[in-house]
Amino acid sequence: MSRSARGFQASRRELTWAARGLVLRQPRGKSADGETAHMAIRIEGLRKSYGASVAVDGVDIAVPEGKMLVLLGPSGCGKTTTMRCIAGLEQPEEGVIAIGQRTVFSHAGRINVAVNERRVGMVFQSYAIWPHMSVYENVAYPLDMTGVARAEKEKRVTEILRVVGLEGFGERGASYLSGGQMQRVALARSLVMRPSVLLFDEPLSNLDARLRDHLRVQLRELQTTFGITSVYVTHDQREALALADEIAVMQAGKVVQRGDPVSLYRRPKTSSIADFLGYSNIFDATLADGGANPRVSLDGQACVLETLDAPPAGPISVCVRPDDITVRARDGAGSPAPGMNRLEGDIVLASFMGPFYQYRVRLPQGAVWEAYGPADARGHGLGERVLLDVPASAVLVAPRT
Ligand SMILES: Nc1ncnc2c1ncn2[C@@H]1O[C@H](COP(=O)(O)OP(=O)(O)OP(=O)(O)O)[C@@H](O)[C@H]1O
Ligand SMILES: [Mg+2]
Repeated sequence: MSRSARGFQASRRELTWAARGLVLRQPRGKSADGETAHMAIRIEGLRKSYGASVAVDGVDIAVPEGKMLVLLGPSGCGKTTTMRCIAGLEQPEEGVIAIGQRTVFSHAGRINVAVNERRVGMVFQSYAIWPHMSVYENVAYPLDMTGVARAEKEKRVTEILRVVGLEGFGERGASYLSGGQMQRVALARSLVMRPSVLLFDEPLSNLDARLRDHLRVQLRELQTTFGITSVYVTHDQREALALADEIAVMQAGKVVQRGDPVSLYRRPKTSSIADFLGYSNIFDATLADGGANPRVSLDGQACVLETLDAPPAGPISVCVRPDDITVRARDGAGSPAPGMNRLEGDIVLASFMGPFYQYRVRLPQGAVWEAYGPADARGHGLGERVLLDVPASAVLVAPRT
């Protein structure tokens, strides 16, 4: 693929609106470079289908002013469609979308504000920058469209290029940039108009791991510094946890759980949400013993675990995060403390991950558990028989989904 072709897969319409969508009518009473009014986003009962298939099915979302909401979910669950509805690139069949005080879509009210009047900035996975323009021209484009005076334009473009770490790149042709640099141009262009609302659709997923980490931190800094109300789409739980003020987990067109990153990570509502949040030990289970200290029996594992959860009615799964388990050598381990479950098995995988060891441990009945161990210890070897200590507080019992 030629250098200029790489990274420009966005549709022409997206590209145009990524560039021009920021060129928006300023709210009445504000100058073109007036300070940003930080609005909140409110979505109620949003529904969008393509033919017979429902992509977004009754979604409610509220993003407080200046906060970042992350939509997290597997491929095809309706994240991009939700974003495109907020931006005005798709027309929903039902629902209400309000940005600040202004309703930009209402099915019942027959309101559908045009894309270019929604005052929304967008950053796509596919960069969507103009390959034939310089970095400077790309970033200045929305300002040119609104006729911002030359001196003011130069000031703002220079300032925003510095903010995204592209100082000195202004004259460079946009097709002669790395993926990370292109994405920062797209980000600079979305920020230069000081939009009230920024929408990010997997903006980091085309980048390598190091750059992704770096830009993720930079993005969070920018978003909090400028206090821009944002919706960020990803299927990467690490990215979601690191960026979000609030996460909305989507499955099959619906928001199935929402919460701040810490409480969501600790208390996923169902086994499929837990699976998406890094609970790598998920097993079917049955209630063995109710009461104050409930115990659950793991199907096919000849083991019973104590939990602090009151098991819900219906089919249940046990979900445990690998970082909540302590891996111990058998020698000198002593008896487990009260409230500590102990399993025993053989190491079938030991990988040094840098900050920790990742182990897979096979129990006698054949189930394989994942656990992390500290990186500073010597680590356990393949085939070694070990003990797994699982605190009752780490045994999440959730409806099986
Ligand atoms: N233009 C379209 N025409 C028909 N179906 C579509 C269209 N766009 C999306 N869909 C369907 O709507 C559903 C939701 O798609 P959407 O792009 O919103 O998913 P997503 O959560 O963004 O997935 P991914 O993580 O893969 O980007 C999918 O089943 C998809 O196939
Ligand atoms: Mg998508």
